[in-house]
Amino acid sequence: MAVLDHISSQEAMALENKYGAQNYHPLPVVLTKGEGVFVWDVEGKKYYDFLSAYSSLNQGHCHPKIVNAMTEQAQRLTLTSRAFYNDMLGKYEKYACDFFGFDKLLPINSGAEAVETALKLCRKWAYEVKGLDLNKAEIIVCENNFHGRTTTIISFSNDPIARKNFGPYTDGFIKIEYDNLQALEDVLSTNPNIAGFLVEPIQGEAGVYVPSEGYLAKAKALCEKYNVLFIADEVQTGIARTGRLLAVDHENVKPDVLILGKALSGGLYPVSAVLANNEIMNVIQPGNHGSTFGGNPIAAAVAIAALEVVKDEKLAENADYLGKLFRAEMNKFIETSPIVNKVRGKGLLNAIIINDDEDSDTAWNICLRLRDNGLLAKPTHGNMIRFAPPLVMTEDQLLDCVSIITKTLKEFEA
Ligand SMILES: Cc1ncc(COP(=O)(O)O)c(C=O)c1O
Repeated sequence: MAVLDHISSQEAMALENKYGAQNYHPLPVVLTKGEGVFVWDVEGKKYYDFLSAYSSLNQGHCHPKIVNAMTEQAQRLTLTSRAFYNDMLGKYEKYACDFFGFDKLLPINSGAEAVETALKLCRKWAYEVKGLDLNKAEIIVCENNFHGRTTTIISFSNDPIARKNFGPYTDGFIKIEYDNLQALEDVLSTNPNIAGFLVEPIQGEAGVYVPSEGYLAKAKALCEKYNVLFIADEVQTGIARTGRLLAVDHENVKPDVLILGKALSGGLYPVSAVLANNEIMNVIQPGNHGSTFGGNPIAAAVAIAALEVVKDEKLAENADYLGKLFRAEMNKFIETSPIVNKVRGKGLLNAIIINDDEDSDTAWNICLRLRDNGLLAKPTHGNMIRFAPPLVMTEDQLLDCVSIITKTLKEFEA
C-alpha cells in the first residue's frame, strides 16, 4: 500500500492497532479532514468536533490565517535550534508577553514539557531568590490533578493508571484537596519549605471541576502571604476556552508563573510556553533548560497568528455567551430526563454527569451513539462526558449540537 493511498476506517484502525503502541483508547472513528467546527471521516461522514483535541482547536480546524502563517514560514525557515537567533522568536516573545502581561516567555513544545519547565523554574527561584536550603523545596499540588505524563508529573498524580509500575517517583510534592483553602493554608503555615502551588483553574481532565467562586483569588493571596509562587496550569483552560482569555481572569488573578499549551498554536503544531516576570524568569541561565524545537520559527509564526485570531474573532466573548446558552439548554433537558445528573463548566469547557455508576460503560456508549448522530465527544472519567467544541462555533451550530446531544441522551432513558 502506498502511503498516500485511500484507506477505509477499518484498515486505518487495524494499522494503528497492529503497529502503534496502545497508549490510548480512541473512539472508533477515523478522521481525514477538518474545517472550522467540523471534521470528516474517511468514508465522507461529517461530524461536529465537540472535543477540539482536548481544547487545542479553540480557533477551529485549519483556520486559514494560521495555516497561511505556518505554510509561509515553512517555506522560508523552519528550525535553527537555539544555537543561533532567528528573526521570529523575539517577535513572538514580545507579542505573547504583551498579550498576557508578563516580562518574559520560555518557549517549549508540549503541555507536559511546559509544566516541567515551570516546576524547575519554581525550585530554582526558591533556592536562589527565596533562599530555601538546597534540595528542600516542596511544591503543593492538588488531588485529581492532570498536568501531563512525564515521570515527575505522574509522581504527584493520584491516577493509578498513569502511575502504576512507573516508579521510582520524584520527591518534593505535597498533595492537598482541590478547592480547599484551609488545606492550603495548613501546609503553607506549617511547612517553611514550600516553593510553589501548582493548580489548574478548572480541573479539566478530572471531569471539569470548577472550584468555588473566590478560590483562586484567595489561594493567590495565601501564596503572596507566604512568599510562594502561584503557578497556573492553563494548558487546557487558557486561550479563551472558559470565556476569558485565561480562566484566572474570572477572578482577576495574575499568576506568578503561567503555563500555556494546546490552543496557543490553534491545534496546528506543538507549541507551549511558560511566562513569568523578570525576578522569577531571570534565574534561568544558558544551559539550565531547553529543547531543540522550543521556540522554532514555525512555532513562533503559528502562535502569533493563533493569538491574533483569538483577539480578532473575539473568541473569549463567544465562548462566554455560547457556554451560558449551552448550560441553560442542558439544564432545561436535565429537568425532564433522568439520564443526566448535572452539567457544569465555564465558557465552552463543560461536562455532563451521566446518572450511572462511575465504572459503568454508559458514557462510552453514549459517545458511540453521539458519533453515529454526527457529534464527536469522549468521556473524561467513568460517567462524565467532556464537551469542548471549537470557539468559532455559531449560535445556530451550538443549538444544532444541543439537539443532537439531547436526542441521543433520550435514546438511553429507558
Ligand atoms: C491542565 C493540563 N496540563 C498539562 C497537560 C499536558 O499537555 P500535553 O498533552 O500537551 O503534554 C494537559 C493535557 O491535557 C492538561 O490538560
